Amino acid sequence: MRKLIDKLAFAHSLEIGEYLEIIKNATAADAAYLAEKACAEKEKHYGKEVFIRGLIEVSNICKNDCYYCGIRKSNQNCERYRLSEDDILECCREGYELGFRTFVMQGGEDAYFTDERLVSIITKIKQNYPDCAVTLSLGERSAESYKQLKAAGADRYLLRHETATKEHYTKLHPENLSWEKRMECLRNLRAFGYQVGCGFMVGSPYQTGEMLARELKFIEEFKPDMCGIGPFIPHKDTCFRDSAAGSVDMTCLLLSMIRLIHPTVLLPATTALGTLSENGRERGIMSGANVVMPNLSPASVRKKYMLYDNKLSDGAESAQSLEALKKRIASIGCTVSINRGDVKKST
Ligand code: 5AD
Repeated sequence: MRKLIDKLAFAHSLEIGEYLEIIKNATAADAAYLAEKACAEKEKHYGKEVFIRGLIEVSNICKNDCYYCGIRKSNQNCERYRLSEDDILECCREGYELGFRTFVMQGGEDAYFTDERLVSIITKIKQNYPDCAVTLSLGERSAESYKQLKAAGADRYLLRHETATKEHYTKLHPENLSWEKRMECLRNLRAFGYQVGCGFMVGSPYQTGEMLARELKFIEEFKPDMCGIGPFIPHKDTCFRDSAAGSVDMTCLLLSMIRLIHPTVLLPATTALGTLSENGRERGIMSGANVVMPNLSPASVRKKYMLYDNKLSDGAESAQSLEALKKRIASIGCTVSINRGDVKKST
């Protein structure tokens, strides 16, 4: 096992079977060894800095019905909201004052957010805060739309692929959503010059060890600029309400492996990780993550963006508690960066 880990740290690549061997058989001591190697690699490129992103959840209205997601269209118990342009600009104003230099607009696939409306919002954010990055996470859109939003000033786009295995994708989504389309969106985003983030859930229903090994191969090949991974957590109003949650340990193991596969990737310690475990965020960072995304949404809507049960939105998860977050990050020997935190292109 140590030999395999050393090989991964050296070559940034393994055979699928070798990834699987680590996924299936790594002990806690092996995971600690992997984390140590992953953090050494991270520090080579980014030092001890952790980047922060202000997350603005612009709408929980969604035309899709993904089986795992709490804001799926058919969930009648979800109280729907959307933020106006003014609301979003106000979040940015507050976020800028708090020290954020990246704003992430995330939301369900809500038809209200036409290209025209988004172009107006992005343009205003960039006018008001030319030193900030704008990240979009608004699901699948047409190539033309991605192009226009990029031209308006968007810098980055997050679109989790959810699973690198096509057959698995069909078990998590209704028929009108396709894995090919998702992949095509990711390719388009890259072609238009975005810094692109993909990602997947750990321990989602029907996921096998082989599938996780394939996730790692996919990351190796696609080389995303960002990669969001977090444990699956069941939501009471979804098909998977009775499914088990993913594991914090497995998520941390995968974070370390992804860091070694792709040393310069921006890797968030996700809210889902912080939700499942009190010190999940810190454990993620100690495993190789280097980004956190505190919530900048207005307090009145935070509880409504419930992708899964008990999703955290206050405490160190809230942008307003940045001081508390800084302390927690300092307690593990890292510092919160005041920079935009763009990806470093590997040489
Ligand atoms: N558990 C964990 N993550 C989830 N997401 C959606 N539903 C859940 C859940 N039940 C993730 C998906 C999506 C991102 C915004 O949140 O990966 O892409």
